[in-house]
Amino acid sequence: MKIGIIGVGYVGLVTGICLAEIGHDVTCVDIDTDKITRLKNGECPIYEPGLDEILAKNIKKKKVTFTNSIKEVTKKSEVIFIAVGTPSKKCGDADLTYVENVAREIGRNMDSYRLIVEKSTVPAATGKRIEHTIEINLPKKYQGKSKKIEFDVASNPEFLREGSAVYDFMNPDRIVLGVQSKRAEKILREIYKPLNAKMVVTNMNSAELIKHASNSFLATKISFINAVAQICDYVGGDVLEVAEGMGLDKRIGRSFLDAGVGYGGSCFPKDVDAFVRLAEKSGYDFKLLKEVRNINEDQKLSFIKLIEDKLWIVKNKTIGILGLSFKPNTDDMRSAPSIDIIKALQAEGAKIKAYDPQAVSKAKDIFSNVAFVKDPYSLAKGCDCLILLTEWAEFKELNFKKIKGVMNHATIFDGRNHLSSRKEELKSLGYEYYSIGRGIV
Ligand code: UGA
Repeated sequence: MKIGIIGVGYVGLVTGICLAEIGHDVTCVDIDTDKITRLKNGECPIYEPGLDEILAKNIKKKKVTFTNSIKEVTKKSEVIFIAVGTPSKKCGDADLTYVENVAREIGRNMDSYRLIVEKSTVPAATGKRIEHTIEINLPKKYQGKSKKIEFDVASNPEFLREGSAVYDFMNPDRIVLGVQSKRAEKILREIYKPLNAKMVVTNMNSAELIKHASNSFLATKISFINAVAQICDYVGGDVLEVAEGMGLDKRIGRSFLDAGVGYGGSCFPKDVDAFVRLAEKSGYDFKLLKEVRNINEDQKLSFIKLIEDKLWIVKNKTIGILGLSFKPNTDDMRSAPSIDIIKALQAEGAKIKAYDPQAVSKAKDIFSNVAFVKDPYSLAKGCDCLILLTEWAEFKELNFKKIKGVMNHATIFDGRNHLSSRKEELKSLGYEYYSIGRGIV
C-alpha cells in the first residue's frame, strides 16, 4: 500500500520505517529540512535500537523515501498518517496547532479518496475536527454535494515504548482501530495484516480515549508503587519484594511497578496533563490523576532530600550522575528526572559530573556547568557520591572495587533500585548504598 507519514518525530519515524519493513511503500514528510536531508542520507536522527538497520535496508530497497512536501505525499499516498507533535500548552491542554495545519494542507491537496489516520496522541473528538478541517479546505472544484471527493478519518493510537519501539511495533499487544466506516477498517486491517496481531475496532472517540487512559493508568501504577516505596522506608519493608508479591496476581501484573525517581519522557507527563484537562472540560475533576502527578513530583523531591540529608553539606561536593536520559536505551532527555535533580543540586552549590551512554549530546543543550565524561570510571574520580538516575544495563556490570578506589567517598544513591542485586557486595566493599523504598545498607 502507498502510505504517507506526516511528521518524523519519534512516532512518525518508527511507524514509517516499520511500515516499509512490513512491505508498504512509505513516504515520510517533515518541515524540518535538515532532518529530512539527514534521513535521505540514511542517518537516523534518534537513537532507537534496531532502527538504523531497517532504515538503511528500506532506503536501499526504495521502500521508504523522504520529502519536505505534504503536497507530494497527499498526491501519491492512499493512506496518510498524521504523526506531528502535540506539545503541552501552559494550561496542560494539548497544543493541536500542527495537527490543524497538516489537516488543512491535506484538504487543499486532495484529489481522490484518502484515508487520514491520526497517530499523534490527541484528546477525544480531535478526529472529528480533523475531518471538518479537511472538508472546508478541499479545492473549490470538489466542494458542494455532487462533486465532493470522499475521504475517511480514523484514529490509530500508538503504544510504542522508546528504547523498544521497533520490537513493540512488530509485536503489538493489540492494534486499536478507531473508525467511522467499513472502508477505513478494511484498509487499516490490510495495512497491519503482516503483523498478525489482535485488532480492537472501536469508534474514533473510544480509540483516542484508549490511548490517554492507557498511558494515565500506567503512570498511576508507577505513582502507586512510589507511594508504597515511601511507606516501605518508614516501616522497614522492601518495595521490590512488595512489587513481586503484588505482581504475581495476574489481575495486577508485575510490570510498571518499579519504584524510582518517577516517570519522565515525552508521553506520560504530557498525556496525564492533557487527560486531566480533558476531564476538566467535560466537567469532571480527575483528582486521582492530579495526585498521580503530585506523587511523581514528590518522588524527585524526597530523593533530593535524602541526598541532602546524607551528604549534610552539598555545597562544593563533587557529585557524579550515572545516567541522564529519562529511561535506558534512548537518548531522549524530555522531562527526564535527571533535569530537576541536577538543577536542584547545582542550586545548592554541588559540582556535577555526568555520564550517559547515549544522551550526552542532548544533555549538553539542557545543562550548564556540568562536566560530561566518557565512562563511569572517569566519572567516579574524585566524587563524594554517585547518583544513579537511569537504569542502563551496563551500570549493573560496573567494577565497584575499582570505582571505590577513585572516589572521594564511597556513597551511592540508586534512584532506580538498579544495583539491588549487588547490595551485599557494595556493603562488603564499604559503600554507603541508598535506594528507593528499601531502607539503608
Ligand atoms: C510510554 C508508554 O509505555 C507507551 O505504551 C506509549 O506508546 C508511549 O508512552 C507514548 O505515548 O508514546 P515511553 O514514554 O517510551 O512509553 O516509556 P515507558 O517505558 O512507558 O516509561 C516512561 C517512564 O516511566 C520512564 O521515565 C520510566 O523510567 C518510568 N517507569 C516505567 C518507572 O518509573 N517505573 C516503571 O515501573 C516503569
